[in-house]
Amino acid sequence: MTNQEFSRRRRQLMEMMGEKSVAILPAAPIRIRNRDVEYDYRQDSDFYYLSGFPEPESVLVLVPGREHGEYILFCRENDREKEIWNGPRAGHDGAVSRYGADDSVPIDDIDDILPGLLEDKERVFYTMGNLLDFDQRLIGWVNRLRKGARAGIHTPGEFVSLDHLLHEMRLYKSSQEIKAMKTAADISCLAHTRAMQVCRPGMKEFQLQAELEYIFKHEGASSSAYASIVGSGHNACILHYVENSATMKKGDMVMIDAGAEFDYYAADISRSFPVNGKFSRAQRALYELVLDAQQAAIEEVKPGKHWNDPHNAAVKVLAKGMIDLGLLKGSVKNVIAKEKYRQFYMHRTGHWLGMDVHDVGDYKVEDEWRLLEPGMTLTVEPGIYVAGGNSKVAKKWWDIGIRIEDDVLVTKTGHEVLTAGVTKQIDEIEALMDN
Ligand code: GLY
Ligand code: MN
Ligand code: MN
Repeated sequence: MTNQEFSRRRRQLMEMMGEKSVAILPAAPIRIRNRDVEYDYRQDSDFYYLSGFPEPESVLVLVPGREHGEYILFCRENDREKEIWNGPRAGHDGAVSRYGADDSVPIDDIDDILPGLLEDKERVFYTMGNLLDFDQRLIGWVNRLRKGARAGIHTPGEFVSLDHLLHEMRLYKSSQEIKAMKTAADISCLAHTRAMQVCRPGMKEFQLQAELEYIFKHEGASSSAYASIVGSGHNACILHYVENSATMKKGDMVMIDAGAEFDYYAADISRSFPVNGKFSRAQRALYELVLDAQQAAIEEVKPGKHWNDPHNAAVKVLAKGMIDLGLLKGSVKNVIAKEKYRQFYMHRTGHWLGMDVHDVGDYKVEDEWRLLEPGMTLTVEPGIYVAGGNSKVAKKWWDIGIRIEDDVLVTKTGHEVLTAGVTKQIDEIEALMDN
């Protein structure tokens, strides 16, 4: 992402905020895993979206129209001793020269400086409730101003939720964002392809996870975008299975849901295939049904369609297929109206995708499902999960869990599947695994 891109975003936000306003965004806090060990640090997505600044202990402040600079970055000072232990810091010079801040102030001085930036403002744009400690500090700064009221100091009268504006911006991906998402997608496709190639009966699920995550790192991804799911047999029917500890057996399907994060953007791919590389008749029947549902859903991704159209298309195909295969009884209409398909398909068909794997942005606008527009990116991920021991369905279907998930960009004329680089066709999967 270029500095111009970050600058363009700040400008766009400031235009929406208008005069007499200020926006405040704290960086993600450092979180302790145990004693001296920290969780891997990742900058807050909103903070990074506006700044590109990766360091903790920072606060971004935007003051549209401020004479001495509209973009103020509070951050850590250079500290030779600390930098020997923990690596370089941008410091104030770096905040200005490398990250485009108009002004940079030591984070330790924020209590003295920030109230002054709120003076004479009408509106404070801030996301309340994410970081309770920071909420408290902000209230403290406002209270300090209130105490000065008799001296003629003006306190902002309105607190406006910043995420509302920002998340609307984040929903529409720029060409630079799409480029990063394509790289995340390409890396993830390579990883899934490799998983198909190396999978063998007798391997542990975590060994397949290791193969995927090796490729993520090897190809330059910063990390996984979320905890990888590798579930074989009945584990494929546990939607958020992340133990990945079982031995994969001949005759079982394995479901992998894993994606890389590259330059702060996520990919999110699911593929399902037989551990031994050959689909049985039952596996093939369910797989083809999910694939048909996914194809029908993807065809609904284009400008002018509503958010819910892909989901409805998938449900229609799945409901009919479940009846045809004898998993459910009744008419398609009834199975959909009574939501009987939810026994085997209990989640929705997708979500927005971007810096967060379940990305920000409203799904409804004034009670209506939102219209799809160019630049939006979403997943399309129908599935079927038949838990073992379900006496209402034939045993041949037991313990088959299948999800097929791709990442799709809405374009001017339709859509582009960003994750087409890993196959989902049965014959191609079998050919890949036959090595
Ligand atoms: N990997 C999370 C999801 O598919 O929504
Ligand atoms: Mn997903
Ligand atoms: Mn997923």
